[in-house]
Amino acid sequence: MNKKIGDVILDVHNISLSFGGVKALTDISFNVKEHEIRAIIGPNGAGKSSMLNCINGVYTPQQGTISFRGKTFAHMNSREVAEMGVARTFQNLALFKGMSVLDNIMTGRNLKIKSNLLWQALRLGPAEREEIQHREAVERIIDFLEIQAWRKTPVGQLPYGLQKRVDLGRALAMEPQVLLLDEPMAGMNVEEKQDMCRFVLDVNDEFGTTVVLIEHDMSVVMDISDRVVVLDYGKKIGDGTPDEVRRNEDVISAYLGTSH
Ligand SMILES: Nc1ncnc2c1ncn2[C@@H]1O[C@H](COP(=O)(O)OP(=O)(O)O)[C@@H](O)[C@H]1O
Ligand SMILES: [Mg+2]
Repeated sequence: MNKKIGDVILDVHNISLSFGGVKALTDISFNVKEHEIRAIIGPNGAGKSSMLNCINGVYTPQQGTISFRGKTFAHMNSREVAEMGVARTFQNLALFKGMSVLDNIMTGRNLKIKSNLLWQALRLGPAEREEIQHREAVERIIDFLEIQAWRKTPVGQLPYGLQKRVDLGRALAMEPQVLLLDEPMAGMNVEEKQDMCRFVLDVNDEFGTTVVLIEHDMSVVMDISDRVVVLDYGKKIGDGTPDEVRRNEDVISAYLGTSH
């Protein structure tokens, strides 16, 4: 793989976040460069999901800033973040279980639906053309993720590994520039993990999408990420290439001291 890593696209600067007395994040800084796969690792409760929640505006940190393409925000608003091209998947799936695969992925297009409600209701002119374009985009994602066979199946009836793939599809439907993935391979068997790894690599490779990935499986992290941030008890204890992080004494002791 000889991809080109670009400039800094996302810059996290001195972020601190607490919930009452619990310090979820303490003075965290790191950056993400365009086209890279940036992993965030660390034991349970380290603050990984909270970090993604600060980036996408679900949590408002008490301190620090986040810059996206050089524009700095003290706190992000979820909708703004999405409009800037940041999409995410969730550690606990956020899909509509009773809705089909196709309709779930279609929900990812909501931000892109522009024509007004009257046009949509009447299904005339621009709205109809737009609907066709969105359907086509969704079909391309379904092909890409190799889930054609389950297009009409309610998501709740699918095995867990496939549900995670649909969640990725919903995020991809936003055509994101930055994709935040919170444990996309958790709870998967070996084969499902390999498939998900391949899709993440393909998204990064074919669309040039920047990926921020929280993952517990160290072999996956070491295999597919360009750089790794390590959090422990809300503090950053390591930051570098997989090889650098693997040799970092603080990281080694954090991991040896914790069962996974
Ligand atoms: N909404 C919340 N309310 C209170 N505490 C929270 C909330 N979200 C996270 N925390 C706390 O922040 C810490 C970090 O949690 P989290 O970011 O989920 O860690 P990780 O994803 O690394 O397992 C934990 O102590 C957790 O209990
Ligand atoms: Mg988490």
